[in-house]
Amino acid sequence: MAASPVILPGVDELRARAQAALRAVGADVPLGAPGAHGLPAGTPITGDVLFSVPESSPADTDAAIAAAAQAFTAWRTTPAPVRGALVGRLGELLVAHKRDLATLVTLEAGKITSEALGEVQEMIDICQFAVGLSRQLYGRTIASERPGHRLMETWHPLGVVGVITAFNFPVAVWSWNAAVALVCGDPVVWKPSELTPLTALACQALIARAADDVGAPGDVSRVLLGGHEVGERLVDDPRVALLSATGSVRMGRQVGPRVAQRFGKVLLELGGNNAAIVTPSADPDLAVRAIVFAAAGTAGQRCTTLRRLIVHTSVADGVVERVVSAFRQLPIGDPFAEGTLLGPLIHETAYREMVRALDRARADGGEVIGGERQDMGVDGAYYVAPAVVRMPAQTAIVHAETFAPILYVLTYEDLDEAIALNNAVPQGLSSSIFTTDIREAERFMAADGSDCGIVNVNIGTSGAEIGGAFGGEKHTGGGRESGSDAWKANMRRATNTINYSSELPLAQGVRFA
Ligand code: SIN
Repeated sequence: MAASPVILPGVDELRARAQAALRAVGADVPLGAPGAHGLPAGTPITGDVLFSVPESSPADTDAAIAAAAQAFTAWRTTPAPVRGALVGRLGELLVAHKRDLATLVTLEAGKITSEALGEVQEMIDICQFAVGLSRQLYGRTIASERPGHRLMETWHPLGVVGVITAFNFPVAVWSWNAAVALVCGDPVVWKPSELTPLTALACQALIARAADDVGAPGDVSRVLLGGHEVGERLVDDPRVALLSATGSVRMGRQVGPRVAQRFGKVLLELGGNNAAIVTPSADPDLAVRAIVFAAAGTAGQRCTTLRRLIVHTSVADGVVERVVSAFRQLPIGDPFAEGTLLGPLIHETAYREMVRALDRARADGGEVIGGERQDMGVDGAYYVAPAVVRMPAQTAIVHAETFAPILYVLTYEDLDEAIALNNAVPQGLSSSIFTTDIREAERFMAADGSDCGIVNVNIGTSGAEIGGAFGGEKHTGGGRESGSDAWKANMRRATNTINYSSELPLAQGVRFA
């Protein structure tokens, strides 16, 4: 372990911060001592368990789904702009409690303060988007082939939406789904990661207060705490009309068929193995800055983290040298401390996976630069330097997503080869090209370019805005959440044909008399 002078906050201080934040948002949670019966609420900052919180039993899960299904009967006929008022109020409360919620995000997910605040800002943004959406759930009118007839499409609420989220975006991903589902007329039952229960309880306190303030039924939002067995109940319950799940490809492989089996709808946001191509014409300063944030931000634990750099041979050495040098200068340590840019990995398993991936890369002929564990004076927390790995080829380990700050570097000679490398992995979430050549940029975005759901030019692979639809192809699962027309996943469509004539012409000229 490399020596480091960083002093981490003590566990009592972290506990006090959590309690103060929960109190500020009005979350009245019975917090048990660590080790007491319940779900352990811990922090990757020191690796300590802070509290234990009540775990949802199978009966609690059933009751929450039943209550949400009951709330649906009233919520679906509440006018959409009135539903929007609930989400608008939630947005106001999030503005007021941005710091409190960000504190909990940093505590539980280990995100640096700026990124934690950014995550809460993303919640505020999606609330604003959803309020506007509540007046824009447009259907269309379609020309009918029959005289005196009109065809139209109407969109109706779908039912209870189950939301399963991961530790790395403990609040934003819930809000992408919940804000949109609620204006669409769907109650939401949320199972957050078992690693981030406190942030979830804080969100639930805020939405409950918002519902109270605007007179909406409280049961339109429920939260369930626990492990996979809670998630499985959401997956299998026929009252859950749409199951939106964020997590691993392994989890998606189980969830997708199980929901399909009962003809439920599913929205999957699974793994990413995102690449950026750096062409000879790229602006090197801009490219390196973007690469460093995309690869090392959130300690490499975003779905959209940059994991593969595909760089033209003519500029490869210069780009790699600059990225390595920038990585070496990144301040690593207490994510609450001003100036820190790299917080901890979420847990020991994440660290072991990183070590394993680097070992495999070495065995495949990769040259590993960085990636060492940093000594922070605590045994149970895992801080690492980001790693750059120059690979001779895109071997099996490069095809796998390792949730850690590892940037594999591959080189290319012509753009077709670079695009082929970009597309050669099973996942298809995010991708970027750095170029000042419009032909290259357009080619990357064309039908025979990147096969990902997110295709960027001259920005990194992470840091999506809520206005666009978020999600990806292939093993990423194909779902789209957040902005654009992703709301359509939360509604059912009816095609209406209206005959306002006194004749009964049949379509396609069919005669039946
Ligand atoms: C994610 O990576 O899961 C969140 C979105 C982003 O930062 O692009």
